[in-house]
Amino acid sequence: MTDSCLTVSGRRKLSGEIKVQGCKNSALPCLTACLLCEKGRCRLKNCPRLTDVENTAEILETLGCRCAFCEQEKIIETDAENVFGTAIENEMMNRMRSSILFMGAMLSRNGEADLGYPGGCEIGLRPIDMHLGAFRRLGVKIEEEGGMIRCRARSGLKPAQVPLLCPSVGATENIMLLMAKSDGETVIRNAAREPEIVDLQNFLNAMGADIRGAGSDVIVINGVKRLRGAEFEIMPDRIAALTYMSAAAACGGKIYLKDVNPEHLSICLAVLRDMGAEIKITADSVSLEMKGRPRAVKRIKTLYYPGFPTDAQPAFMAAMTIAKGATVFVESIFENRFRHAPELVKLGADIDVNICHAIVRGRECLSGADVRAFDLRGGAAMVIGGLIADGTTCVSGAQHIERGYEDIAADFEALGADIKKNC
Ligand code: UD1
Repeated sequence: MTDSCLTVSGRRKLSGEIKVQGCKNSALPCLTACLLCEKGRCRLKNCPRLTDVENTAEILETLGCRCAFCEQEKIIETDAENVFGTAIENEMMNRMRSSILFMGAMLSRNGEADLGYPGGCEIGLRPIDMHLGAFRRLGVKIEEEGGMIRCRARSGLKPAQVPLLCPSVGATENIMLLMAKSDGETVIRNAAREPEIVDLQNFLNAMGADIRGAGSDVIVINGVKRLRGAEFEIMPDRIAALTYMSAAAACGGKIYLKDVNPEHLSICLAVLRDMGAEIKITADSVSLEMKGRPRAVKRIKTLYYPGFPTDAQPAFMAAMTIAKGATVFVESIFENRFRHAPELVKLGADIDVNICHAIVRGRECLSGADVRAFDLRGGAAMVIGGLIADGTTCVSGAQHIERGYEDIAADFEALGADIKKNC
């Protein structure tokens, strides 16, 4: 993979208005769900054009599902009437974590799936044991050999009660994809409650599925015989919105974000208010004004939704490097999600990491340096570090950032930042 970089000149206040992109973590499962549609076409509106979406579309194409992207209108149209593929090469599986969702979608469509283990950001072990356990319970025969997973459901899926050991987003989505077309009732207990699960439920129901309960911890799937084409609008990206808000809280200024659902952000908006930001919301926008340095917040612990999202932890950590006081971050979802901390230290931040805790003691300023993005959200934190710091910061490994942000440089430039690609 070619290495790309972003060069950031820091110490500018942010001000201006941007429209927040469609949600990556909703677009990926919804796009995968298009494979289930035997008749008609699906149209996903507000679909962000980013590497993970392109990789998902590429997998769909190799399975025989045609995908057309209409860039201007952010619409992707799929036609899965002639799907023939039942296998995905390791190299494609490796590009992102959400490729595991094809296990449920391919089994539903063809009764078989041969695939490798998924890749994605290196932020912890990220096992798939819950996906496999649930699938076995639902009648799928699974053999694992030589790094490949061979799944068969030809003798029929067996709807059942599926309790999840923890509310895994991916496992919840995979079960919904597997069982939307089935003969009977499947109940997921301790399901993930993230808004992206609600989006997937709504899209599948628009295709003719009968699924209830998404957004709560019990999801009931009444299997239907077939699904048809549908049009659906992807929700706004809450993590992208939080990236821009935490940057503005650190740099100061006033920003206005359009296409945001503030209901999805309530915990983080409370944290931003505690940091000293003045926030106004409407049904689909947020404005944030920050004067002076942010205040530290005693403790930020990542939790499953509706708790503080692990995906926003790196950006908030970057903002807290110049807060007045110390903030303790507790990462309770992933074991290895502080790789951005030593990079922020290169910019002069004062951070001590101790397995799943990080103590950030705010400094008055940071200074520019060469840093590296090791994963998607950690990369966004490096950009925020660069925006805070005096002088120039070069963020290498920016291809990780491109997996989840359509154009982070253009967005920050629209907010008055000085940030350039590949120079
Ligand atoms: C999704 C999001 C990711 C986010 C994460 C947690 C997508 C494409 N990605 O990832 O951005 O950071 O939710 O909000 O939507 N686990 C197991 N066994 C399993 C599955 C998960 O032990 O079979 C563990 C994981 O290691 C982790 C926890 O469960 O500790 C939560 O993971 P999960 O919710 O599954 O995350 P993803 O779906 O991979």
